[in-house]
Amino acid sequence: MDRILVKGGSELAGEIPISGAKNACLALMPAALLTQQPLILTNAPALSDISMMRKLLTSFGCEVDGSQNNRILTISAERISNHIAEYEIVRKMRASILVLGPLLARDHKAVVSLPGGCAIGARPVDVHLEGLEAMGALLELKDGYIFAEVKGGLTAVDYTFPLVSVGATENLIMASTLAKGTSFLRNCALEPEITDLCNCLKAMGAKISGTGTSTIIIEGVSSLNGTTHAVILDRIELGTYMLAPAIAGGKVLLLGGKLELVNSFTDILSKTGCQVIESEMGITVESSKKGINPVNISTAPYPGFPTDLQAQMMALLTLSNGVSKLEENIFENRFMHAPELNRMGANILVDGGTATVTGVSRLKGAQVMATDLRASISLILAALGAQGETIISRVYHLDRGYENVTAKLSACGARIKRLSS
Ligand code: UD1
Repeated sequence: MDRILVKGGSELAGEIPISGAKNACLALMPAALLTQQPLILTNAPALSDISMMRKLLTSFGCEVDGSQNNRILTISAERISNHIAEYEIVRKMRASILVLGPLLARDHKAVVSLPGGCAIGARPVDVHLEGLEAMGALLELKDGYIFAEVKGGLTAVDYTFPLVSVGATENLIMASTLAKGTSFLRNCALEPEITDLCNCLKAMGAKISGTGTSTIIIEGVSSLNGTTHAVILDRIELGTYMLAPAIAGGKVLLLGGKLELVNSFTDILSKTGCQVIESEMGITVESSKKGINPVNISTAPYPGFPTDLQAQMMALLTLSNGVSKLEENIFENRFMHAPELNRMGANILVDGGTATVTGVSRLKGAQVMATDLRASISLILAALGAQGETIISRVYHLDRGYENVTAKLSACGARIKRLSS
């Protein structure tokens, strides 16, 4: 298994291009199942999660063309010969559940493996299932699989999500586009990736209003067409790299970055003492000249502070000049990076959903282990600001969500390289 070696202590200077959003792309790809015409996605990121979704769609009989290098994916679901999403793929990527709504909407049947637990918590899919049942789907859970069918097709629904869920909102929006009648989805998640999905679906001929609000109204149509759609930029990758100069010192321009996507995160980053400036080119972040101020954060659905940036922000706060409290409200087991950061000299105490981070004057390089996607990049960020060498193992987690990390960071002067096994 590959590892990453970081020699800390170099200030950063330069530019980092921000890629297309993994989470947007993972919802847009299943949308291709809703039409027999090709869906062309540009600005698709080159990530292992995207390859996994591609494998899943191919297993249904879809044709997926496009090399990862040119960032264009052409997905054609002209014929679907198989409606089973196998455990082997679903267990590796929870977003596989997003094929359930589109398959049911199009062919009135689907068999999808239950995702099961994952490193950061139980993450059930009960809300996805409840919503689809409300649209008339008959569901049976058997042998670890969801067997779903709907005789005569899905019917529109007036459904209020009992909790704010990104994936369940996406699944029900896609399902509603081809349902009979007008659906009202209430208490929808507000994440920009959902707006991106709605914009793509609208270009495919879907009739959607209320995009970007908590009530989305979808008038079902009998068929959708193909389109070409550019995936929005990855706000989590953006926030992650905004933290790189904050931790290592220096000044970096995040090319293409837009503050409107990372407002609550930027508010907190600015409070730590960093300078954040938006221009036509993107966002420039310069490290604090007077030390890092402690801050408290509390993760929340968009537009709140994203849980997907909590681990990375914790890496910065380990070096603050005071005590910070981090409250994780989305996932119940999302502090696995804390003991690894402590191995590097951090002082973090975890108590249930709250982590207390007492800043230390320096971190020291160590051998650490990535436990999940965002944890792995938080260790790399911490290593940039640490004295000496850090070796991070299990970097396959990183490949799921960050493309060309070593190239992007070394272009700014970081001493980082991948060690092949
Ligand atoms: C998406 C993102 C993930 C991000 C998360 C929260 C993708 C591919 N992934 O995940 O990176 O961390 O949003 O911003 O877009 N829940 C239930 N029952 C359900 C569905 C969700 O109890 O049926 C719970 C989850 O366990 C979690 C909370 O709701 O505690 C929010 O999860 P959700 O928004 O659904 O996350 P995902 O869509 O899986």
